[in-house]
Amino acid sequence: MAEPIEVLVFGSAIIDFICYTPRLPKPGETLHGNSFQTGFGGKGANQCVAAARQGSRTALVAKLGADSFGGDYLRHLIAEGVNVVHVQQLEGQTTGVAQIAVSDGGENNIIIVVGANNSLSATDVSKAKSLFDEAKVLVCQLETPVPATEAALKEFRGVSILNAAPAMENTPQVLLQLASIFCVNETEAALMTGMPSIHSVEEAKEAVRKLVEMGANTVIITLGKLGAVLGDSKQCLGDYQHVPAPKVAPEKVVDTTGAGDAFIGALAHNIAQHPQGELAEHVAAACVVASQSVQLPGTQASFPRRA
Ligand code: ATP
Ligand code: RIB
Repeated sequence: MAEPIEVLVFGSAIIDFICYTPRLPKPGETLHGNSFQTGFGGKGANQCVAAARQGSRTALVAKLGADSFGGDYLRHLIAEGVNVVHVQQLEGQTTGVAQIAVSDGGENNIIIVVGANNSLSATDVSKAKSLFDEAKVLVCQLETPVPATEAALKEFRGVSILNAAPAMENTPQVLLQLASIFCVNETEAALMTGMPSIHSVEEAKEAVRKLVEMGANTVIITLGKLGAVLGDSKQCLGDYQHVPAPKVAPEKVVDTTGAGDAFIGALAHNIAQHPQGELAEHVAAACVVASQSVQLPGTQASFPRRA
């Protein structure tokens, strides 16, 4: 009999079209880019592959189109060792796509057209019940319909991580309450809390406090090169912790796309492997993996494999 799944990801799979360009274009502007590459992306699949490359047994529940992109994606996931029993190619639907621009400074902007991902539903939670029963960690995001995510979080009994990305102004409060760990980046945290911006560790701690007040159990906010802050509903602001990221020289930061996904995948892996460990230690390990991913181009293409 196959060994039980450790990390279950319920979410998106998208094909990335990445243009590398000297700088990001202004509205209405056309720029000559430097190079182009396609890649396997989508926050759900990215997080799943990141966990698999760290050594966890993973499964993905996701929807692809019955097109060549969908077929390529399925073969790629199998090659990465991901359980794809519940990854379905839908007739008459297109695989999700992302148009990504990455500047020389490593900044990006992204437009997604999620296509078949929109068909992920609560029924898929029931169909994959055996995976929900056996996994230790569940990971969800917001590139697939919210009711499906809510059903997944309600079904799961282990440690659940909700990466509330991309940012939603009115993220339903029930999602914050259902997830064991609520994880966002500084932009998403600012949008959700109504703070004008979050650029420092102190501002991030204030955002953690607000998210806890909104019903979250444990909150992690990632802060790019500053690492991450974490806190939970049993602590007061003074107890919240800052975990710094390993230093990466600015000229080595080539593409931060997917850094957040590398972080989440590695976090899920560490929690699944060391359930008794301190969350701050898991966050530190996730920062190491994510800081490696910013030093290579691409999304999944940049995710490290466990040595
Ligand atoms: P993206 O949306 O680009 O995938 P994100 O905005 O969700 O990423 P970030 O907060 O930018 O996520 O980064 C996630 C993690 O990646 C950080 O917590 C940190 O550990 C690592 N990281 C990102 N940028 C850098 C950097 N310049 N140097 C070192 N580590 C970094
Ligand atoms: O987080 C990065 C991902 O966001 C990309 O792979 C892209 O597909 C978008 O979903």
